[in-house]
Amino acid sequence: MVDPAGGEGTRTWEEARQAIRAGRGIVILTGAGVSAESGISTFRDPRDGLWARFRPEELATPEAFRRDPRTVWEWYDLRRRGVLGCEPNPGHRAIARFLLERDDTVVVTQNVDGLHQRALEDEVEAWGQGADEALARAAARILPLHGEILRVRCSRCDYNAAHREPVNSDSKETLPRCPQCGELLRPAVAWFGEMLEERVLERSIEAAASARVCVVAGTSALVHPAASVPQFTLRSGGSLVEVNPEETPLSARARWRFRVGAATALPRLLDP
Ligand code: APR
Repeated sequence: MVDPAGGEGTRTWEEARQAIRAGRGIVILTGAGVSAESGISTFRDPRDGLWARFRPEELATPEAFRRDPRTVWEWYDLRRRGVLGCEPNPGHRAIARFLLERDDTVVVTQNVDGLHQRALEDEVEAWGQGADEALARAAARILPLHGEILRVRCSRCDYNAAHREPVNSDSKETLPRCPQCGELLRPAVAWFGEMLEERVLERSIEAAASARVCVVAGTSALVHPAASVPQFTLRSGGSLVEVNPEETPLSARARWRFRVGAATALPRLLDP
């Protein structure tokens, strides 16, 4: 059932809402489209997608970092400042409220922008007692499959930490170095050709396999293993809800498809 824009498909919206609210175990898989309405470019938009303006193999690979760490850091620091200049949109906020309300919900995100985490912080800001604990419990159920651009990790040892300060890429000497071993620090994101963090991927698949509903929002569903996560919900008899203005390889498997932006659809699907 496709609901092109809402109106005549009100029954469709209500059916999907009921399925999400009744389901024990919900996974929400998000991609760059969920952050598009926060002003962050997606990857494959032919007009202004990141990969239309930069060649990923020149910037988002371990080889590029070994060859020219300054240029890689210059690009990532530009993206980091861009992300920090953006705000979570109503789609992120609706997911955050749902995460806080439902401890059986897991968000598997391909996005490295940290806006899901920031939306959680915004949502509990007005809370009093217990806000920190609720925030920690909900944040632990956000699985950043491709890493986090506002964290750094050592290119040699296991050092990994939050890092929101600007990075000075004027010279190799001004690039950040590991406080444990002195090696160059890199953005804590998965680059092309690298394995994803195994534990994060395992948890994503476990959550999808036991989910009654998987909401797939804002992803072209072209990059694996992320695009395979919803298949585990289908294999265990669950349903897919797709939120994307465009068709994707998952569309045919989705029981409900909403061809509207995530900032519109997600509050309508997830809020009580
Ligand atoms: N709401 C919902 N979906 C949207 C919106 C919106 N407002 N705007 C665009 N979209 C959809 C597009 O139709 C597209 O299907 O979001 C999707 C974005 O697709 P991509 O740009 O391919 O981004 P994503 O699916 O997240 O890419 C996956 O590829 O290069 C890697 O690591 C990178 O995590 C990224 C991965």
